[in-house]
Amino acid sequence: MDKNIDITLKVWRQKGPKEKGAFESYPLKGISQDSSFLEMIDVLNEQLINESKEPVFFDHDCREGICGMCSLYINGRPHGPDSAVTTCQLHMRKFKNGETITIEPWRSAGFPVIRDLTVDRQAYDKIMQAGGFVSVNTGGVPDANAIPVPKKEADLAMDAAACIGCGACAAACKNGSAMLFVSAKVSQLALLPQGKVEAARRAKAMVAKMDELGFGNCTNTQACELECPKEISVTNIARLNREYLSAKFKD
Ligand code: FES
Repeated sequence: MDKNIDITLKVWRQKGPKEKGAFESYPLKGISQDSSFLEMIDVLNEQLINESKEPVFFDHDCREGICGMCSLYINGRPHGPDSAVTTCQLHMRKFKNGETITIEPWRSAGFPVIRDLTVDRQAYDKIMQAGGFVSVNTGGVPDANAIPVPKKEADLAMDAAACIGCGACAAACKNGSAMLFVSAKVSQLALLPQGKVEAARRAKAMVAKMDELGFGNCTNTQACELECPKEISVTNIARLNREYLSAKFKD
């Protein structure tokens, strides 16, 4: 049953990358618990616009858990208190009447703040450009069953491919490491015959780019797996380490 709640938002406001930011508080009344978290921010922004104030800048696109844009810390957790959901899939029924909700942008060296809750997300794109693709000429589209792939490996590749590159892994990591993201992207290709051809070059190039862009080292805290909205497993990190080491030995 639809129930309305009154909440207070503590939102990080920052006018630009080099400006000093601060939290501002906004009371919101009568928020439907059936609304999504982003719909609730829409209500806040309407309220701010009606009061002739600057709306809060935040990223979103699909609002269906696909694009990975809606990256927010909510009460200190990437994507908020629910598990295995993105911010856009989080609902206000997860919050109580009278609650104060703190909203921050990703806090990670690899994702500098652009404005308010939006961060520069190009780092993950650059890591993908370094090797997250298959560039060998594979000819025309083969029949689906022309290249046999064991079911177990196909399933593992599909699980890795569920990564939407939202950045929660790096944001959750105390070292700001992007290893879960990179390992998912390396794994989804390294597990399949088409991706094996360039596996060594890919692993080295993507790890080198990750290091160059200021992401930290992985110390196996596994916070990334816990906060990942797509439940990407840290076993992918073990696979990436194997791919990387075997590439280095081949060198
Ligand atoms: S807006 Fe696309 S995943 Fe949330």
